[in-house]
Amino acid sequence: MSHDKIVILTGAGISAESGLGTFRDEGGLWAQHRIEDVATPEGFHRNPDLVHAFYNARRQQAATATPNAAHEALARLERDHPGEVLIVTQNVDGLHEKAGSKNVLHMHGILAGALCAACDHRWPAPGDMHKTDTCPECGALATRPDIVWFGEMPYHMDDIWQHLATADTFVAIGTSGEVYPAAAFVQEAAINGAHTIELNLEPSSRVSDFAETCFGPATQIVPRWVDQELSR
Ligand code: APR
Repeated sequence: MSHDKIVILTGAGISAESGLGTFRDEGGLWAQHRIEDVATPEGFHRNPDLVHAFYNARRQQAATATPNAAHEALARLERDHPGEVLIVTQNVDGLHEKAGSKNVLHMHGILAGALCAACDHRWPAPGDMHKTDTCPECGALATRPDIVWFGEMPYHMDDIWQHLATADTFVAIGTSGEVYPAAAFVQEAAINGAHTIELNLEPSSRVSDFAETCFGPATQIVPRWVDQELSR
């Protein structure tokens, strides 16, 4: 049984079979909304009602979504693998935690979180957020979804670079490799000697950076990969 440290990057594709939309697939979220309108600080400043409506709808959907076999397989890997297993997720749904994963870093924030732009206080987001909400800590009229928007620095980056420097295996699951810095993680891990694997429905933009690839629906290929990993 190997004690390898496994770092896993997940994207919207791992939650697709739980009914949550991806961003760049046919009919995805960026086909329905302009990124500059709903996923930038400027868009929020311009029209907070539109942005709150966008995230309120996604928060409601995520609240009732259930983890699929891929999320559950990763939770089983964390439980049964003797070495460290870390999930770095670009996803803002809570499906990894609902499946039982504990060692999870949300680099793009979480739908279930609210943030005060004035005092940096964080609290559990109400089902629906509104521009008239005030911060429970400082009272400012400066509340927003605790989501990292385009042009903002993703969370936990110092930790993530450290983990990529010490990973034995790096796996990317359900991500198109279109958005940085996450798209650069595979090269960072490979430079530090990690074995790199892409598990995706189809080849991503970064496919040539991976030493090993397997294509298919996450609910099929992720449990199979976890079984192989645990039998090594
Ligand atoms: N199983 C496995 N992979 C899938 C499945 C599935 N059932 N369905 C779709 N995919 C793959 C697609 O082939 C695609 O490569 O998941 C990937 C989804 O890519 P994107 O929609 O670009 O989502 P993601 O990579 O998570 O986007 C990264 O971009 O817009 C920002 O902040 C947003 O976190 C997001 C980031």
